[in-house]
Amino acid sequence: MASAFEYAPAPESRAVVDIAPSYGLFIDGEFTDAADGKVFKTVSPSTEEVLSEVAQAGAADVDRAVQAARKAFEKWSALPGSERAKYLFRIARIIQERSRELAVLETLDNGKPIKETRDADLPLVAAHFFYYAGWADKLDHAGFGRRTAEGHGGPRPLGVAGQIIPWNFPLLMLAWKIAPALATGNTVVLKPAETTPLSALFFADICRQAGLPKGVVNILTGYGDAGAALVEHPDVNKIAFTGSTAVGKAIARQVAGTDKKVTLELGGKGANIVFDDAPIDQAVEGIVTGIFFNQGQVCCAGSRLLVQESIQDELLDSLKRRLSTLRLGDPLDKNTDIGAINSAEQLARITALAETGEAEGAERWSAPCELPSSGYWFAPTLFTNVTQAHTIARDEIFGPVLSVLSFRTPDEAVAKANNSQYGLSAGIWTEKGSRILAVANKLRAGVVWANTFNKFDPTSPFGGYKESGFGREGGRHGLEAYLDVR
Ligand code: NAI
Repeated sequence: MASAFEYAPAPESRAVVDIAPSYGLFIDGEFTDAADGKVFKTVSPSTEEVLSEVAQAGAADVDRAVQAARKAFEKWSALPGSERAKYLFRIARIIQERSRELAVLETLDNGKPIKETRDADLPLVAAHFFYYAGWADKLDHAGFGRRTAEGHGGPRPLGVAGQIIPWNFPLLMLAWKIAPALATGNTVVLKPAETTPLSALFFADICRQAGLPKGVVNILTGYGDAGAALVEHPDVNKIAFTGSTAVGKAIARQVAGTDKKVTLELGGKGANIVFDDAPIDQAVEGIVTGIFFNQGQVCCAGSRLLVQESIQDELLDSLKRRLSTLRLGDPLDKNTDIGAINSAEQLARITALAETGEAEGAERWSAPCELPSSGYWFAPTLFTNVTQAHTIARDEIFGPVLSVLSFRTPDEAVAKANNSQYGLSAGIWTEKGSRILAVANKLRAGVVWANTFNKFDPTSPFGGYKESGFGREGGRHGLEAYLDVR
């Protein structure tokens, strides 16, 4: 069973990383087959080519990984924070050193443009490890109480954290979960999504390279049943989940009545609100970033454009011109703006919702755009004549599809923005600072961007209201999710 990804230098091409034909689960510091020998294939969404075959974890493997994490917890949690920090700093530096390999691997397995993995995902992944490395020896000063000189009280790790992540930002979601968990002294069993297992296995290799003690990080590739077994396991103390609202609700039901702590980061239907005094060109760039970054497969995407009626025509003309310049195609080409949709299932979901939009009477528009003959592709799409009752204004599409609605007054904008089962993100475009503050205060969204969109930083807490989930990741707040605060 292969364990390492070999480095093969060649700029911006898939040859940068040599992917082995098969990979095992990463348990207790070793790569191993699944107990029942099951494997599954992972494909490149842009070509449908099989990239590798990976072990498929079952309940017996979950148990093995949790036991390894439990054993490792004793020593890991007893280490001084400054020692844990050294490992995290080392991991962060190795991520930087190997970021070209990781960017290419992520682009191959996920389908997203290399421009995004290289310039957005990877720098943020490293930044998260650096940031939480900095907290590891300062937990007594994080505002969660302090240990006494005798060692009583103060913040304590929870134990074994079971972490389940989605496929839209495989490495970044791994970083958001693993970095704070390790900094606070927990050990981890992480399950990546079934369509994007490779970068997490590469990360396992980095843990070995960093000399991280065995069992502190365990990676189980597999499907939803492995995730459910992890949630169910009696020796897991904490579940951190990012993914669909349906699975989030199932997890909440599963842990009800147990003493497991849970954080859920679920879907969204972010409103991007453009007022009539906004600089149109900048707003157009922000709208494009908001919904077409990562093919719109972003929980905090600005998937509802709310535009003030007086500038609607001008803004839409400008937006359509800009959409006509977007380049869709080979994700490894550094000039590509729009890559592939992550899976055939996701493409089918997006296609069905777009068809519902048309059937319910919204007007569909796409710039002329040739789609490659193999792989999973969806052209950037706009819907106008959308009302709040339309399915495409309410449901998360999780694809490159923007629903345009209009408003007349700031109050109407706020009411429409908040008219959603979700509450994860929002954007405000206006020249007026006072309006930014007044509107932001009324929005029920975990993150509100002003005159920008989809900007991330490890120091900022991120999370939702309503059906977007609960708990915060990132920043000082993100530590709390992994601490028993006494
Ligand atoms: P999903 O929620 O099924 O998958 C996310 C992760 O949960 C994967 O690792 C999966 O294996 C795991 N999982 C699935 N069933 C589970 C269970 N019963 N117990 C524990 N873990 C389980 O998401 P899916 O089906 O890939 O995407 C469906 C929709 O969900 C998308 O169209 C999108 O609307 C939304 N979504 C939202 C994300 C976000 O960032 N908030 C990320 C991915 C999807």
